[in-house]
Amino acid sequence: MTNVSLVGYTNKLSGRPGDEIDFKISSQSKSPIKAQLFRSINADPNPKGAGVVEENCDEFFPTQTFIGRNQMFFPGSYGKTNHPIALNAKNEIRLVLSVWPTQYCTHNQAFLAVDEIELFMNPDGYAELHFRGHAVTVPKKLILRQWYNIEACIGANSQLSISVKNLKQSLAIPKNTAASNILEENFSLDLNGVVSVGAKISSGSASQFFNGKIENPQIWTDGIISSNWDFSNDISGSFVVGKNCPDMDFFNSPTRGVKGACWDGSEHNWRHKPKHYGAIHFHEDDIYDFGWETDFSFKIPPNMPSGIYVMRISCNDQKDAMPFFICPPLGKPTAKLCVLISTFTYAIYGNHARPDYHAGWQDRIKEWGAYPHNPAEFSEYGLSTYNLHSDGSGICHASHKRPLFNLRPGYITFGDVDCSGLRHFQADSHLIAWLHAKGINYDIITDEELHSDGVTALKDYAAVTTGSHPEYHTSQMLDALTAYRDGGGSFLYLGGNGFYWRIVRHSDDHGLLEIRRAEDGLRAWASEPGEYYNAFDGSYGGLWRRNGRPPQQLVGIGFTAQGTFVGMPYNRICYDPKFDWVFDGVEDHVIGDFGFSGNGAAGFELDRIDPALSAGLNFAEGTKITVLAQSYDKANDFMLVPEEQLTHLTNLSGGPEAQAKRADMVHFTTEGGGQVFSVGSITFCGSLPWNNYDNNISKLLTNILKRFIGPV
Ligand SMILES: [Fe+2]
Repeated sequence: MTNVSLVGYTNKLSGRPGDEIDFKISSQSKSPIKAQLFRSINADPNPKGAGVVEENCDEFFPTQTFIGRNQMFFPGSYGKTNHPIALNAKNEIRLVLSVWPTQYCTHNQAFLAVDEIELFMNPDGYAELHFRGHAVTVPKKLILRQWYNIEACIGANSQLSISVKNLKQSLAIPKNTAASNILEENFSLDLNGVVSVGAKISSGSASQFFNGKIENPQIWTDGIISSNWDFSNDISGSFVVGKNCPDMDFFNSPTRGVKGACWDGSEHNWRHKPKHYGAIHFHEDDIYDFGWETDFSFKIPPNMPSGIYVMRISCNDQKDAMPFFICPPLGKPTAKLCVLISTFTYAIYGNHARPDYHAGWQDRIKEWGAYPHNPAEFSEYGLSTYNLHSDGSGICHASHKRPLFNLRPGYITFGDVDCSGLRHFQADSHLIAWLHAKGINYDIITDEELHSDGVTALKDYAAVTTGSHPEYHTSQMLDALTAYRDGGGSFLYLGGNGFYWRIVRHSDDHGLLEIRRAEDGLRAWASEPGEYYNAFDGSYGGLWRRNGRPPQQLVGIGFTAQGTFVGMPYNRICYDPKFDWVFDGVEDHVIGDFGFSGNGAAGFELDRIDPALSAGLNFAEGTKITVLAQSYDKANDFMLVPEEQLTHLTNLSGGPEAQAKRADMVHFTTEGGGQVFSVGSITFCGSLPWNNYDNNISKLLTNILKRFIGPV
């Protein structure tokens, strides 16, 4: 395992004055570590712009020095009873369970283990039972992604025996069985220990992780079920109650709400037929919360301005930087404008190992002094929901409670494009830097506060703006944004492909998010049929569009086309004098033909209007959505998104595909008086800093903000 020499994370990504943020750090050096606080203004390392800009914040956090220690982390999900169990049998102990293996490994993969009993799949793919130095193996390879019932018996007839039955095969096909004599006479079957599934526990630590599903583990003593864990119970939880035996806790968040051995397609919602969803999918590389000890804490002082901050740590020649977000006290805004930071989207993308990463990117990284580590080189830290587990299944959980290499100032997402190549945190800093350059005061609210505090987090702001890519939302977040807008709040959606996927936050672990890449949409992987419902709350996962809440209902536009990291200009469409205020001081017909993201303000992922999907929006009387400017994919750099496709000739827009591949910059006013400005492009914010913040996109956004919040 390759470890980064100095790296850390925070227990939370955001807080308000009075809240405490814990910093958890691992250092391979015993030298002192220095910690310094900065305010983040610009996180783009591109030397063609301002470079990474941060302000010293010693007044809030005097530089500290502390001695570090190496902190370990332990990937691999499994279940373990919260107490040992005693197994006292006269004649036999029998283990029964169903398994669905997904990967052969060079190590044994434990199905179930207790005390001296180990039942596992060996590297040859055979089911094997070990007991006190004796072993028995069924020499018939388990086929991946097929259900097997496995019974292992110790003791009856002084034998170890094991039988394996492929549950897909007809009853006429016999079980594969094997047995071996136990040499000892009068051996005892008095055992005592914790029971584990999906891993073996020895000296308190887990190993021999299993990749695949396990269902309905049972332990029988002398013909009676003595222990049984029904995984179809409490599917949203992180443990199951044992039947007449200790409860079983799950570690490293294996996937629940997945199809079991008896799923027959008759039901797709696990809440309706939980018995069909009695399996749990374990992965050797599941890891979401490192659980590190805290090295120091920072209590947010009452006078600390809302903003984006970075705790920089250094030790010898090693360094790291942990961003976090400070919000104002609830209900006490300090600015008219609120910048909504997409921390849930950041976490969902956390440690995204891009398939196109290659070591050649390091040349630019060194030249620009950019953040050096890429998740693609450190997969053991846990990858993102845009990646796959080692067994090929999609990663559907995410958390910020571990080092996220791509959530660092100066991190480059794309290393060989003709622009800064930024996404998310770093791309959003183009907007932050612009606000500072223009002297526009702002408060920060993150997805966390939006989810937890609802519209209360926003209601006192004249305007709320997103960053470049607010893609992932819980139902609570959409409710809050809709209530804010309908209550008369003005909303700026300065991104593309926003409000796209439904996610759910775990009710016990607030850092843990779930995504099901169900049905369709532009997907990094596809959920299995029958596994479209979230385990965390039973809701139907996938696109908000498939849940009856398309982004057009909130911001007037929605995802239509995806391309490479190229940006195009917009053409002004609206010359209605009622909207001259938008273009005040903008003489050009072509706007945004420049930028640090794709060299154009309309790029990468584009949104457009769709009257069918925005139907039902309550506009102010006599008004509608006004298209201010548009950008068409004239070079055929973009593809129409799958959910818009019908046949090879037709799509849902009703017109030619080329007409649907465009960005619409729009404005509308709701019945409640709330105004919405949407740009329909991920690369829009990248144009703001161009030419030292003096350009027509910058001017246009200034005009919008003047209208929404007053003089700026
Ligand atoms: Fe995205």
